[in-house]
Amino acid sequence: MGDTDQNTAVAPAAGAAAAATGHAAFRMRLVEILKSQEDILPPAQSSLGRLYQLFQSPESSVEDCVEIIKLDPAMTARIFRLANSVAYRGKATTISEAVLHLGFAQVRQIAFSAGFFKKFSELKLPPGMEQFWLRNIFVARLTERICAQFQLFGGMEYLAGLLHDTGWLLLAAHFPAELELIAASDKPSPASEKEILSFSHAEIAAAICATSLLPPRVTNAVVNHHAPLALLVGGIPPSHNSDVFLGVVLNVCDKIGDACKLEIPWQKSGLDLEGVKESAEAKWLTQFGKVIKYEAMIEDELPKAQEICRALTGGK
Ligand SMILES: [Fe+2]
Ligand SMILES: [Fe+2]
Repeated sequence: MGDTDQNTAVAPAAGAAAAATGHAAFRMRLVEILKSQEDILPPAQSSLGRLYQLFQSPESSVEDCVEIIKLDPAMTARIFRLANSVAYRGKATTISEAVLHLGFAQVRQIAFSAGFFKKFSELKLPPGMEQFWLRNIFVARLTERICAQFQLFGGMEYLAGLLHDTGWLLLAAHFPAELELIAASDKPSPASEKEILSFSHAEIAAAICATSLLPPRVTNAVVNHHAPLALLVGGIPPSHNSDVFLGVVLNVCDKIGDACKLEIPWQKSGLDLEGVKESAEAKWLTQFGKVIKYEAMIEDELPKAQEICRALTGGK
């Protein structure tokens, strides 16, 4: 065997070993980053934390909600602004009127979004991710809205929508050079991330859900949001309360985000709305016998998501 042959035989093995070393180092760095993350849920004694607790309690009332919101000037201002915005068409003059006009579920969404934004907004968005906040709020609203057509919903669906792509924020902040490689890769997400880092943005987001003790249904749906039907076992249609169902809804809503041009450039599906409706995941949902009116839903939800986003980011 000549020198050239030897080199070509050695090079792939050396490349694989270097990649494995790199992957191990990336994984260790990720573990450190995740360990240093505070809980995604706000501290129990903060006003946001008290609101979160209230949302978990079946006995809580709008009045309880108002009492806590009144203690938080930033939240009070947001609730007023939203209730009286063009999208929500309210004429509230008191915080009680504003909360009543919006309703419990909307106030919960605003509180969850505010908590999410507070936690992650100091992370700088890289070029191409300017729409990230709007996209996530939109996807979260759509996810809760579709799930609400099928089942009682309790806020976890909205949180799943908010959190499912958080991995991109952490990659942008802590692995910028690798994110550039992912963005330039010919492979789709999350295969590109697996190749470069050995873990995907979906796995990072699921780790955040798991360390925050969110229900396994949310964690499983988030980790599989790019291939939720892979969770199906034995072809038996799962219940509306399952991780598969939530994962499929997340997947469809994510693709609607793309169809509405709120793309993350390196993970876009390239589908328009008709393409979304024809996707395997959207077709899978039709077996449950409900008609999802996609166009009307988008028309209703997008302006509200924009309004919430403006209220959180100060219109930036
Ligand atoms: Fe994703
Ligand atoms: Fe997404």
